[in-house]
Amino acid sequence: MARVLLTCELPPGGLDPLAEHEVVSRPSVLAADISDADALVCTLTDTVDAAVLAGAARLKVVANVAVGFDNIDVAAASARRIVVCNTPGVLDETTADLAFALVLAASRRTSEAEAELRSGGWRGWRLGDRPGRDVHGATLGLVGFGRIGQAVARRAEGFAMRVLHHSRHPTGRPGYVADLDELMAAADIVSLHVPLTSETRHLVDARRIGLMKPTAVLVNTARGAVVDEEALAEALHAGRIFAAGIDVYENEPSVHPRLLGAPGAVLLPHIGSASVATRLAMARLATQAVADVLAGRHPEHPVNPEVLA
Ligand code: NAP
Ligand code: GLV
Repeated sequence: MARVLLTCELPPGGLDPLAEHEVVSRPSVLAADISDADALVCTLTDTVDAAVLAGAARLKVVANVAVGFDNIDVAAASARRIVVCNTPGVLDETTADLAFALVLAASRRTSEAEAELRSGGWRGWRLGDRPGRDVHGATLGLVGFGRIGQAVARRAEGFAMRVLHHSRHPTGRPGYVADLDELMAAADIVSLHVPLTSETRHLVDARRIGLMKPTAVLVNTARGAVVDEEALAEALHAGRIFAAGIDVYENEPSVHPRLLGAPGAVLLPHIGSASVATRLAMARLATQAVADVLAGRHPEHPVNPEVLA
């Protein structure tokens, strides 16, 4: 029986693959003594860096209950021959649904309209009230065209949108734009679907926001730090872009104060993958990965497979 540290509450059934093991719950890796843990199940809010891993003498596997793994120092884990696993695939459609919800909500600025109604300020239907931007027929620019970016593109088909996409490697698919600046300038709606890496940190900075149309909408369900939030807040306050739909923030759970007050900002608390079925699927994928590594089997989604070679 191995000892598995768990830093989050999993939905009922999420722990089933670990039935043979001792599971110890801790609120975060920082609050945990991981020196006698054989495995760690954690989330994107846990910073698993070289210092944390240095104290993990027995650790064989870290399973992140998330697809993004920018919270883990994978190189430091590999150096210690610790397998790192994530949860790709099972959350694509749910996250794409949420990205599309933000595309719609930001383009029609529904949060402001609802706030007016709830505050008692609505005076009835008027022709000139709250004109938004049409989503149907608009040009959607996807930055990152992996699992989630492609799932958003499938939804855009139903809205008769023209879809452009950008990634480092040509996809060979219609709509590929090699130059990100060109996509930023051409799109009516830009939606971000890249992982957070040293290359994508502040990929959307003041200069790139400045390339967007004044009528454009920015949607971020990737990671907060992919966008320079100060620059985005400034652009919204100055009316240099129309709106933004944001699910992720650079310093979660705190939200840039100028974004909180920015006109046209629709702000959600990192709920991209938050559906009942998807959160269970993520939990089971992560705990199954731990069970597999502990049993000497190859897990389904190692991010550093070289450690298993
Ligand atoms: P994925 O399948 O790995 O796709 C990533 C895409 O980004 C690929 O097209 C990749 O293509 C591109 N890319 C990577 N680095 C790039 C760069 N420097 N410049 C331009 N394009 C780049 O990932 P995914 O499963 O779709 O997930 C994407 C991200 O969404 C995750 O990493 C996570 O941070 C975020 N996410 C958020 C939520 C939420 O709750 N809001 C939920 C799930 C995921 P190339 O390699 O060819 O560049
Ligand atoms: C959520 O943000 C994830 O990366 O799964």
